Amino acid sequence: MFDTKQVINELQEMRDEGHLSDALLRRAVRRIQSSDDRFDWVGVYLLDSQKNELWLHNYMGSPTEHARIPVGEGVCGTAVAEKANQNVPDVSKVSNYIACDPYTKSELVVLIRAGDEIFGQIDVDSRNSAAFKSEDEAAVSAVADKLAEQLMAERR
Ligand code: SME
Repeated sequence: MFDTKQVINELQEMRDEGHLSDALLRRAVRRIQSSDDRFDWVGVYLLDSQKNELWLHNYMGSPTEHARIPVGEGVCGTAVAEKANQNVPDVSKVSNYIACDPYTKSELVVLIRAGDEIFGQIDVDSRNSAAFKSEDEAAVSAVADKLAEQLMAERR
C-alpha cells in the first residue's frame, strides 16, 4: 500500500509548482497502481456531465475497450448515479458489471468529488477476490480529495 501522506504531499508539491490536473491525475494513477500487487488495473474516469457519461482520462494495466461508460452502467456508472463509492468484493454478483479484464475479481471505485459535485472517479480492479479493505478506500479517497481540490481550482 502507498504511503498516503507522502502521495498527498507529492501531489500538493506538483500543484505548488504549477502543474495542472492532467499531470496530477496521471501521477495519482501511477503512484496507486505501482504501490501494491493487488492493484492490477488503476484508472481515472472523468465525468462529462453534458453527455452524462464517464470518459477514461488515463490508466495503468491491460488496455480496455471501455473508454466511455454511461452514468448508471457498470460499477463505475453506478458510483456516479448513487453518488457513492463502490467496494465490490465479487464482481460476478453485479448484474450490470462491465468486464474490462476477464480475470478481474473485485473492484473499488472512489469518487473524485467536492460535496455534491462529482468530477470523476478512481477505479481500481484486482484479480484477487475481496481485495479491498476500508484502509484502501480511505487511502484512495485521500488522493481523490487532493485531485478534487485541483479540479475545482481549474473549473470556470
Ligand atoms: N468494471 C467497470 C468498467 C471499467 S473497467 O473495470 C476498466 C464497471 O463495471 O463499471
